[in-house]
Amino acid sequence: ARLVVLVSGGGSNLAALLEAAADPAYGAQVVAVGADREGTGGEAIARAAGIPTFVERVGAYPDRSQWDAALTEQVAAHRPDLVISAGFLKLCGPQFLERFEGRYVNTHNALLPAFPGIHGPRDALAYGVKLAGATLFFVDAGVDTGAILAQVAVPVLEDDDEASLTERIKVAERAQLVEQVGRLAREGWRIEGRRVRLGG
Ligand code: GRF
Repeated sequence: ARLVVLVSGGGSNLAALLEAAADPAYGAQVVAVGADREGTGGEAIARAAGIPTFVERVGAYPDRSQWDAALTEQVAAHRPDLVISAGFLKLCGPQFLERFEGRYVNTHNALLPAFPGIHGPRDALAYGVKLAGATLFFVDAGVDTGAILAQVAVPVLEDDDEASLTERIKVAERAQLVEQVGRLAREGWRIEGRRVRLGG
């Protein structure tokens, strides 16, 4: 399967996917990496691995729908079977969502539907939950509302702060992403309502 990975940050999820994909038995290759800003760690990791990269900044376009169109075309040009948002901090627009419907997954650092948005670990700590975690889901038009593919829980420890909890979640999140993307690539999938089934 052909993967296009979208990043905004350090790219540790991307790095984990690249490492897994180095084994042909994994069943997927990262064919391109896109970012919404210049100079991300994710882009540097992709370049170092010799993978084509592109950057589409919202601010480079007169309006959001033109950015949406440009991002859609950039991603589509790489003919992905699966598009992976790995810490991509932009909400994609309707053109993108339509083109990649059922093929666009995002990893979120909370156990959805609790704590959507960009501060999952912080919000989980503030609420006082004892289990935090990560959710892999197919993106729909809402914010972190799409059909859930997999979740992994980690404990919130007594003396956690945002940094320590964030890091514990990321370790589990990366493993989940690598495992689940490999399964999708090798087995295929279909989405029935809110249920995701492996096997084409
Ligand atoms: C992930 O924890 C994701 O859930 C959050 O940002 C992190 C991305 O990290 N939105 P990285 O860029 O893959 O290191």
